[in-house]
Amino acid sequence: MSVKLNDHYLSSFIKPHEYERIAPEVRMADTMLREKSGPGSDFLGWVHLPETYDREEFARIQAAAARIRKSCDVLVVIGIGGSYLGARAVIEYLKSPNYNQLPGNSPRIYFAGNCISSDALCELLTLCEGKDVCVNVISKSGTTTEPAIAFRVFRGLLEEKYGKEGARERIFVTTDRAKGTLKQFSTEAGYETFVVPDDVGGRFSVLSAVGLLPIAAAGIDICELMAGAAQASRTYGTADLAQNDCYRYAAIRNLLYRKGRNIEILASYEPFSAMFNEWWKQLYGESEGKDGKGIYPASVIFSTDLHSLGQFIQDGSRTMFETVVDIADTGASFTIPADPDNIDGLNFLSGMELDRVKKTAMQGTILAHVDGGVPNILIEVSRRDAFVLGELLYFFELSCAISGYVLSVNPFDQPGVESYKKNMFALLGKPGYESLRGDLEARLRK
Ligand code: PA5
Repeated sequence: MSVKLNDHYLSSFIKPHEYERIAPEVRMADTMLREKSGPGSDFLGWVHLPETYDREEFARIQAAAARIRKSCDVLVVIGIGGSYLGARAVIEYLKSPNYNQLPGNSPRIYFAGNCISSDALCELLTLCEGKDVCVNVISKSGTTTEPAIAFRVFRGLLEEKYGKEGARERIFVTTDRAKGTLKQFSTEAGYETFVVPDDVGGRFSVLSAVGLLPIAAAGIDICELMAGAAQASRTYGTADLAQNDCYRYAAIRNLLYRKGRNIEILASYEPFSAMFNEWWKQLYGESEGKDGKGIYPASVIFSTDLHSLGQFIQDGSRTMFETVVDIADTGASFTIPADPDNIDGLNFLSGMELDRVKKTAMQGTILAHVDGGVPNILIEVSRRDAFVLGELLYFFELSCAISGYVLSVNPFDQPGVESYKKNMFALLGKPGYESLRGDLEARLRK
């Protein structure tokens, strides 16, 4: 495997007998997952997706991506939460957070409908001026407010620019197979549609059409991504903790949580991981944070954040642990130049690879944080490519499900997300919410 868990820095925090004690719970979680006997078992489609995905739809995704790459300057990807984070994470991780600015990358890819900001929407409309635009709107329910508003706007823009017929060629919809307003509307309008499988929830959907179409449109090899995930699915098929790094990660998280570590910081040393961290935060936050329980998922990019959050991690309240993702070969290399005058006193680094400085910073930081009482889990990733990223995505998805079951929550629902929506709809005067409205308005007036 190209993804390995290194628990070397945990020895002073977790004793061997603790792994033995939690092992039966992990085995039980594995049984719940494999036999579909746990809560949320209607949403386990992602487990076998890397092997059993719909080949016919996969070919349509590749064909649509090729058409998008040929026919537009800009692809606007509309979606929120699990309907956009995975695609954005993969594109930025494998290409770059500066994907749109770098030469040779076409189409530009912008994400819309993931917030309620006039500024963000107006700015994006400006960026689309004079450009040939395609849209991929992604919503499993087909009713989520943020993407629905953005789709209304961009559908209007496309119809005005290309006419209804022309717009039809440029709109790609990823939604439920049969249900929802978006599905119904797309069928009537004749848009090409892709399916969010019934048994795959938003945050587990990156390896379905939800993630794959925008990822393929960015020119990333989605076959490799799926092959890596399939490799991970085969490797993590055993419930034996000693042999399964993915399950071991789930066990460690729960052991640390039981010792009062209720914040996990995912740390990377590469800015291209920032959106990957956001994807991971949603995956774990929405899956585990319920019933008054859960580990709060946070993230940092080091060494940048060593100069902001480093003080707290080293020395603040001892409630967190860190999971450090170390990517051995990121692709680029850079050698620090010499300065004959040594004005900055840095000549001891002359001729050294910048990666070596990064690695040393990481080693020094792990040791310092462990000394400061912060348990550190190390996840070693061999290289930055689509295959290995497929493994890593699957590693985190599977460990999240196992960890959630060990925590005794349903990792596949998100009842808490509804509360804000209910209040917002009532306050905005949506029909059906009248009774709640008066009460909320009175509370806001106080
Ligand atoms: O993970 C989830 O289920 C959520 O984050 C959803 O993806 C998000 O709320 C968007 O929902 P939908 O795809 O129905 O618009």
